[in-house]
Amino acid sequence: MCGIIGYVGREEAAPILLDGLSRMEYRGYDSAGIAVRSEDAGLQVRKSRGRLQVLSDMVHGGADLKGTLGIGHTRWATHGEPNDINAHPHVSENGKIALVHNGIIENYLELKEHLIKQGVKFQSDTDSEVVAQLLEFHYHECGNMLEAVGRCLRRIEGSYAFGIICADYPNALIAARKDSPLILGYGKDGNFIASDVTAIIKHTRDVVYMDDGEIAVVTADHIDVFDDEMIPVEKTHSHVDWDVSSAEKGGYPHFMLKEIFEQPEAIRKTISPRIRDGRVVLDDLHLSEEYVQGLSRIFIVACGSSYHVGMVSKYTWEKLLRRPVEVCLASEFRYGEPLVDEKSLVIVISQSGETLDTMAAMREAKRLGGRTLAIVNVVGSSIAREADDVLYTWAGPEIAVATTKAYSTQLALMDLVGLYLGDLLGTVSSQEYQAVIEAMGRLPDQMQQVLDHVETIQYHACQYFNHDSIFFIGRNLDYAMGLEGSLKLKEISYIHSEAYASGELKHGTISLIEPGTLVVALGTYAPLFDKAMSNVVEVKARGAEVLAITTERFQEKMEKTADSTVVVPDTHAIVQPSLGVVPLQLFAYYVALQRGCDIDKPRNLAKSVTVE
Ligand code: G6P
Repeated sequence: MCGIIGYVGREEAAPILLDGLSRMEYRGYDSAGIAVRSEDAGLQVRKSRGRLQVLSDMVHGGADLKGTLGIGHTRWATHGEPNDINAHPHVSENGKIALVHNGIIENYLELKEHLIKQGVKFQSDTDSEVVAQLLEFHYHECGNMLEAVGRCLRRIEGSYAFGIICADYPNALIAARKDSPLILGYGKDGNFIASDVTAIIKHTRDVVYMDDGEIAVVTADHIDVFDDEMIPVEKTHSHVDWDVSSAEKGGYPHFMLKEIFEQPEAIRKTISPRIRDGRVVLDDLHLSEEYVQGLSRIFIVACGSSYHVGMVSKYTWEKLLRRPVEVCLASEFRYGEPLVDEKSLVIVISQSGETLDTMAAMREAKRLGGRTLAIVNVVGSSIAREADDVLYTWAGPEIAVATTKAYSTQLALMDLVGLYLGDLLGTVSSQEYQAVIEAMGRLPDQMQQVLDHVETIQYHACQYFNHDSIFFIGRNLDYAMGLEGSLKLKEISYIHSEAYASGELKHGTISLIEPGTLVVALGTYAPLFDKAMSNVVEVKARGAEVLAITTERFQEKMEKTADSTVVVPDTHAIVQPSLGVVPLQLFAYYVALQRGCDIDKPRNLAKSVTVE
């Protein structure tokens, strides 16, 4: 989703801004723009619909725009179509103030009407331009930019991260945040603001995470942070220890493929420090045995693929904990009057830690008295900072919009937490505990085994990429896994796809199966393999072509019925989806490749969804 970068220092700003924006391209966007201030030319703004390259070519890689202070933005349209005018930065009517914005200003219409009555003429359809114009209004009123920002923030409702420059202030940029991430970066030759650490990691690893309601004044040598009453705030610095190479393709044609192949290592990093002497050790989880024993409800709340992790975990946790586990879409949960109370544990899962619906759901859970545990990948992200407990997945930066290694590490971590809680509750036998631990230990190598046979999936993707509609079917954990397989496929290949619990097919969806329909049949869940097979036979009888995923143990049986079969190693049922999902990720990838899709930047999608 939208990305922000700002720079003030001793270097030329434009190339730094363009480079920073290019590192945030993965977030998904439809237009881009920069504003740079120079002594001679004042505020120079260039923006364009489409890829960042268009903007970069327009300004010759930044060479056309002189100046050491500037802001840049990649926009993902919410208010107003993606075009040059609606792209950011937005400039106030007198041309003095430029602003970039992430988030949504909810009362923008009311403010716009007010400003129109004052004679202000608007250029764009965006909620963001309203803030640029409102800033000019207040600046004119009080003559001080910081004060004008403060007045403006008191009038707007909604979520925002702002980067603001003003022609009258050649040495400073102003940043403000509420419900939309923004970080401050301390560089050698200047300082930065950014919505995403990847934008500035090339220049600095010394960052400060802004909190809601804070305003920062950033100059080349100094950054001052104030709270919403303009009282100075002392901030804690964080060191970003990401490996820069994680944000580069390292010889792979796409980030997605690279990240699929990084999974064994990512899983290792997630689980190894948490298994000691055959026991799960979760140092960062502060839940007493008494609290866990007294739990009345467990919710798992998330969006997208993280929600699918929740779907798998519902099955595994109910087996391990013998307690009901409710999985909720964050966007539904937050407005659904959830039955959360002091005895509820609410697990929120989020790769980015910034998904607005998940964040709002977590706040709602807290408001209702529940205890929150966040499973998050991005260190220092908003959800991680606000949750009562946080466990990081340690997958490293994930760049491709379609998540793979974050999904796998979330799944592995949820298995560990489930095992840990089951142990506290006394609902897991010691044999099962040990069997799951051993299976987790084998997981990275077994995953590597699946990846070593990538050519099988490539072959099947070449066979099947021309289908217009693909169904994923399975039972229990296979059904939950199919949800993710289906989502991956539609996200990047744009093929219509649905995942169904096999047993439910006959209640409607089977009417869509006709000769030649491709059905991806998941048969890795051993306890229900025979039941799943009978559903495979049902769709075959109606002419479906079946691509099956199964385990070594069932290979022979499956091959007798399915048209094509992909085999993954056997493991404990709870861990099996972690292996089964890998061929589904690869299948989606190679199908999208065959169809010539823009795999790392699928249309209309964003990596981190910071609006409702
Ligand atoms: C977006 C991404 C998905 C992701 C979902 C939730 O839709 O494209 O890949 O699963 O957001 O994101 P989160 O960061 O909260 O896991």
